[in-house]
Amino acid sequence: MRSHYCGQLNESLIDQEVTLCGWVHRRRDHGGVIFLDMRDRDGVAQVVVDPDTAEAFATADRARSEYVLRIRGRIRLRPEGTQNPNMPTGMIEVLAKDVEVLNTAATPPFQLDEHGKVGEEVRLKYRYVDLRRPEMIEKLRLRSRITHSVRAYLEGEGFLDIETPILTRATPEGARDYLVPSRTHEGHFFALPQSPQLFKQLLMVSGFDRYYQIAKCFRDEDLRADRQPEFTQIDIEASFIEERDIMGITETMVRQLFQDVLDVALPEFPRMPYSEAMQRYGSDKPDLRIPLELVDVDDLMQSVDFKVFSGPAKADDGRVAALKVSGGAKLSRKEIDDYTKFVGIYGAKGLAWIKVNERAKGLDGLQSPIVKFMEGVIEELLDRVGAEDGDIVFFGADKARVVNEALGALRVKLGEDLDLYTADWAPLWVVDFPMFEADDNGRLAALHHPFTAPSCAPEALKASPATALSRAYDMVLNGTELGGGSIRIHDQEMQRVVFDVLGIGKEEAEEKFGFLLDALKFGAPPHGGLAFGLDRLVMLMTGSRTIRDVIAFPKTQSAADLMTDAPGEVSKEQLRDLHIRLRPKAKPEGAGE
Ligand code: AMO
Ligand code: AMP
Repeated sequence: MRSHYCGQLNESLIDQEVTLCGWVHRRRDHGGVIFLDMRDRDGVAQVVVDPDTAEAFATADRARSEYVLRIRGRIRLRPEGTQNPNMPTGMIEVLAKDVEVLNTAATPPFQLDEHGKVGEEVRLKYRYVDLRRPEMIEKLRLRSRITHSVRAYLEGEGFLDIETPILTRATPEGARDYLVPSRTHEGHFFALPQSPQLFKQLLMVSGFDRYYQIAKCFRDEDLRADRQPEFTQIDIEASFIEERDIMGITETMVRQLFQDVLDVALPEFPRMPYSEAMQRYGSDKPDLRIPLELVDVDDLMQSVDFKVFSGPAKADDGRVAALKVSGGAKLSRKEIDDYTKFVGIYGAKGLAWIKVNERAKGLDGLQSPIVKFMEGVIEELLDRVGAEDGDIVFFGADKARVVNEALGALRVKLGEDLDLYTADWAPLWVVDFPMFEADDNGRLAALHHPFTAPSCAPEALKASPATALSRAYDMVLNGTELGGGSIRIHDQEMQRVVFDVLGIGKEEAEEKFGFLLDALKFGAPPHGGLAFGLDRLVMLMTGSRTIRDVIAFPKTQSAADLMTDAPGEVSKEQLRDLHIRLRPKAKPEGAGE
């Protein structure tokens, strides 16, 4: 129906006849001449309809925003003074000969260029209109280029694209499962995969050697800006490899991807042990664009006459850390109060601080609610954090977990608020993760997933599970965990020990993962892999604030789809077929019988 996309028109086509198909972006009536800005997925072009072409003019006259038109016309240079160099098609216009209405449109729920005035709920309810916005088209176009580049690279490296099931058994990645009731097996349920983890390992047992898949994953967890219940992974697995092989392959993949799509040469990817990341940045996904670091001061604080500090300084699981911000003495009382509230979100009970106005004046040159307790240690403290005039030093004292989370988040927030970034892109690998983490009751859970190989032998793991390290690695970019993976356990005995440590008994292991334990018996090769969060990758590469903006039809924070109104109720008949009876809804409190 069309000869060109609107956005492709330029001066090289002058005097040519073109046929455009698209939507009326804007219609302007300029005293006898009608201007139609026509839009399609490639851009916007200006069409002029002159009263001389009477039929076309009459049609253009009744066209409204978002009508679907076909326009035949001739390209000409825009008259001097009306050219728009900011627009790719801004030098030319199309003089219409025919205008045909392919379809009318009701008044749209919002004007495309005024989307900022409507809430995200409206945009999501009418997502097909929202996706007409050039900004959204651009994001999805980039997403497509990203998957294309990734596929091309992996295919070139000999990886095979193999699909794995969506209706399956639970795959433990630490979230709740989405369940699907079975009609043919009464009382039984499928689980949607939290990732293709077990299947890709089984493909290695089959000998496929190099596998990848752009795979949908489903996790029923609390949502945030970078989490969706249904999301996409670039999932990769390979056999007869070690950490450095798979890290090398995927680092090159990401490097080429940035080069291909953004023309960006990423810097070196440093490798940082988990313990160092927590120590220096309070996070296992440090944003290395921000030059602030946590500094341990436990030794200095053990003797101070301030229990809030000396307590955690002496406790085994406590930590007292300082965070110096150059030039931060200019922060107002109100700003400091706001930061104190902010760290409260992470459980911090306060946020002590010292403003360094003039170090040469000793205590008189400092301003702080706690300096009176610090007399004996203040010089050493300020030296250790490298404090100079004009700086502020913040402190966190609590259980190490609370201090890390609170000061780790404060570090990122200060970086953002004070625009402290020293680079556009700061990638790294975080390595040497602990195998397990303890929950509040001291029960151990896998930090990655229970198929991750430890760096030690089974006996050593059994003897000291809490301190064992794993062969896992995460790729982090600008403070976001882009991807993670590990070398896997390929030995049945080792897998049993890990299940044991996790408190998964023999019977339960057989019931849940019997097929994997079986497969490990039948010649499982050494193997490993990782998975990238495609949505997060696209979010970073498009500079979007949430992953919802790079997913065509995302879900809301409460895991609902406002457009299709899913999840929805189903008929009694469907429920009966599925052998399901719903419990009566709980009555709201205070409601009468
Ligand atoms: P993991 O659970 O770390 O590993 O997931 C891999 C990557 O997927 C992305 N991701 C998400 N993105 C959007 N919404 C979510 N809810 C969400 N959850 C995770 C993250 C994360 O780094 N099977 C292992 C991988 C492996 O070991 O090979 C796995 O799924 O970017
Ligand atoms: P207070 O003696 O409770 O008034 O606290 C003195 C200063 O220490 C205030 O600036 C508090 O914000 C700060 N503070 C209190 N508890 C902590 C804590 N656990 N970590 C860091 N600073 C704290």
